[in-house]
Amino acid sequence: MTPIQFAFIIGIVSIGAWAVFAALARRQARPPSPAAAAAGGLDVPEPRPMLRMPDVSDIGRRKFLLRALGFAFLAGLAQFALVSIDFLFPRLRGGFGSKLEVGDAEEIRNEISTQREPKFIADGRFYLSLYEGDPADAEDIPAYRKANVAESGFMALYRKCVHLGCSVPWCPPAKWFECPCHGSKYSVNGEYRDGPAPRSLDQFHVEVVDGKLVVDTSTIIQGAPRGTVTSQPQPEGAHCVTIREG
Ligand code: FES
Repeated sequence: MTPIQFAFIIGIVSIGAWAVFAALARRQARPPSPAAAAAGGLDVPEPRPMLRMPDVSDIGRRKFLLRALGFAFLAGLAQFALVSIDFLFPRLRGGFGSKLEVGDAEEIRNEISTQREPKFIADGRFYLSLYEGDPADAEDIPAYRKANVAESGFMALYRKCVHLGCSVPWCPPAKWFECPCHGSKYSVNGEYRDGPAPRSLDQFHVEVVDGKLVVDTSTIIQGAPRGTVTSQPQPEGAHCVTIREG
């Protein structure tokens, strides 16, 4: 069921509940007909003059309580509907789960290649790295195709380890990503190299729009399978994480 369908059902149920409640309240407040009163031996109230204006004293205690109860019920329903709609349509602008405009694509490209390390984007929980392989290879790998790697030249790598979800830091000496929890290791392009991780790091779609780099964090693209090696097969220096077997 889509959020719109769910919100629509909540609205219909709320209106229906209010209509039933209002009908019951009106029925209770209505005086018995003369015939019914005669049959039941009840006193029939004097009919009111047609042109008499109602005043406050006409609203009996029972009527007042019913109206107050009805108003409280309606206010509660309205509040519930508003909270439900707010929950179903979260404000996903400018953070993880939305499309993020990260900055000028050329500036970021220069920054990454000068510093020779990925750029971490905290708002989106991903690292931006430059794709170091052959664009033709990227077109052959479904995950890279979905992420638009060959065309953009960038990779947006989700920092969450695909083993058990730890945050994966960058290891400057090795120039790999190395997970401190169980020692999984990934190349600069997030490709699986070592440890218990079942695949390469997950990633996000990247595109360059009017010179700006835009990363869509609303959809996680599952990382390439183990054995994917398009670049950097070996570490460049010492590892940051060493997990002893046994
Ligand atoms: S969570 Fe990263 S290796 Fe286990």
